[in-house]
Amino acid sequence: MAKNYVILISGRGSNMQALIEAKLPGRCAAVIANRPDAAGLAWAQARGVPTAVVDHKAYESRDAFDAALAVEIERHAPDLVLLAGFMRVLGQDFVTRFDGRLLNIHPSLLPAFPGLRTHAAALAADVKIHGCTVHFVTPALDCGPIVIQAAVPVLPGDTEADLAARVLAQEHIVYPQAARWFLEGRIGIVDGRVALAGAATAATALRVPQA
Ligand code: GAR
Repeated sequence: MAKNYVILISGRGSNMQALIEAKLPGRCAAVIANRPDAAGLAWAQARGVPTAVVDHKAYESRDAFDAALAVEIERHAPDLVLLAGFMRVLGQDFVTRFDGRLLNIHPSLLPAFPGLRTHAAALAADVKIHGCTVHFVTPALDCGPIVIQAAVPVLPGDTEADLAARVLAQEHIVYPQAARWFLEGRIGIVDGRVALAGAATAATALRVPQA
């Protein structure tokens, strides 16, 4: 039976678009946002993808929000849940419930620069290489087994916006790649690390585009 996946967004949804446009071997069962004004919702609706909103502001506690979100996700019985610019921290119960089928994209080369404003942090640290990471979600923020990373140069004179755009272009490549591997059943977690089966080797989990 064809696998299905659910995408969680909070805003623009460009990673969501990249995932849906990648024609993954599975069906996008729903796009769910925690904000009713998330711009990505309209894009999904226009393409006939079911959407839902679980507004975090309507819940008194983080746990109550997490529980309502989990119910909405489970309605679709997804094989895979993709956090795509989803800007809420998810609690331990939620993460445990979706253990092994919850992926996130983060705009830095983890474990460097977890949290927010990663591009500003990279510029402040004067690093020469920056990038993005797709990883399985574990209870600790921006941790978890790494599936794939893409590296980009930090160029003299770069602004935060320059760097964000350079990284985002890579996000749109590596996130669909990671989702494809998962949906093809080629990703496993062995001893807390991601193991890639088949033709994909460890080297393919590092993307270093030519300038
Ligand atoms: C992306 O850069 C994504 O990596 C980042 O938010 C942006 C969302 O853009 N996610 C995080 O910072 C998660 N902590 P998008 O809505 O256009 O995909």
